[in-house]
Amino acid sequence: MATSQKALFLTDKHGDWVVNTTDVPAPDRGQLLVRIEATALNPVDWKIRESGLFVQRFPAVVGSDAAGSVDRVGEGVRDFAPGDKVLFQGFFNTVQGTFQQYALANADVTAKVPTNVSVDAAATVPLGLATAALGLFDQYCDASAKLFPPWDLGGRGKYAGQPFMVFGGSGSVGQYVIQLAHLAGFAPLIATASPHNAPHLQSLGATHVLDRALPADALQAEVRKITRAPIPVIYDAVAHATTQNAAYDVLAPGGRLVLTLPEQIDEAKKAAPPAKHVIHIVANVNLPERRKAGQSLYAKLSGLLEEGAIKPNRHEVLPNGLAGIPDGLERMKKGQVSAHKLVARPLETP
Ligand SMILES: NC(=O)c1ccc[n+]([C@@H]2O[C@H](COP(=O)([O-])OP(=O)(O)OC[C@H]3O[C@@H](n4cnc5c(N)ncnc54)[C@H](OP(=O)(O)O)[C@@H]3O)[C@@H](O)[C@H]2O)c1
Repeated sequence: MATSQKALFLTDKHGDWVVNTTDVPAPDRGQLLVRIEATALNPVDWKIRESGLFVQRFPAVVGSDAAGSVDRVGEGVRDFAPGDKVLFQGFFNTVQGTFQQYALANADVTAKVPTNVSVDAAATVPLGLATAALGLFDQYCDASAKLFPPWDLGGRGKYAGQPFMVFGGSGSVGQYVIQLAHLAGFAPLIATASPHNAPHLQSLGATHVLDRALPADALQAEVRKITRAPIPVIYDAVAHATTQNAAYDVLAPGGRLVLTLPEQIDEAKKAAPPAKHVIHIVANVNLPERRKAGQSLYAKLSGLLEEGAIKPNRHEVLPNGLAGIPDGLERMKKGQVSAHKLVARPLETP
């Protein structure tokens, strides 16, 4: 049994990324110790370093996406055994950070990786899917559109005939939004993206892909050509000031706009009738207020992946294990990653 491991540390607030040796943590009651074979990179990882937000104790291990094999099970865990292939969402408290070779996972929000999904692909699922799922279908938390989940009995096709729109459909979050909205029956399902990503987004369930470069008024005109029906729910997975304001304009009176970043909608626009609901989400299935929805999603996740109802993001494996992550984060920061996820294999760290 391993007692020490390699981890990628952020040394300090705005500090450096450094690979170092550290202890392997022991699982608490209800937890698993997972040997991480693949971890995926997310925008929040470079934003933590850049902004100095989200993490206060250093050196810190971050990383939110992992897949690997169960090494040890904590007390009270019944559904997992050593050797099981699993995927889970990390948490920013170092022992649950996924940029290391071993991390702790809460068993109630961990899923088995079905045999038709590779471990690398499985690592692209947790954060992106949780952000889509909790923003739209969390019945227990007010920071959600609170739609009925398509993974629950009776949820598939429930919103048939209602239009839906996602800004940033080709991002990791956006691709899971498309897939869940498609399962829920929304149509037409309109996404914005670079035109070269249209065929892929259509394969996931988008009915129309509009060029992300369209100015707001041209975008609104294109949406109106597709549907005259009011759009009751819009997910803005880009959530820059421009997309937020464009989405707000397109949204139906009384509709719900889900944002992945803090709200930046013009005050005058918000003050003018009709009223619309704007929801900024923080999506982690480990959070107490998100746990019930997370448990319900994770109870069905293996089946959804096995069936192909949810497809992992396309991915690229980075070289040099954990040591390859900082270059990958730089590429993400520069906007050089389109419609796929970067994955690192911690066990391949030199
Ligand atoms: N609040 C939370 O809990 C939470 C959770 C996860 C993510 N986030 C945030 O949500 C955002 C998206 O995350 P992600 O993981 O999906 O990012 P990502 O996969 O890195 O997003 C990359 C994609 O963004 C698209 N994009 C960029 N600008 C766009 C625009 N103006 N219009 C349409 N598409 C645009 C690009 O599309 P093309 O290649 O097609 O041009 C690219 O494929 C990030 O800011 C992230 O920090 C927040």
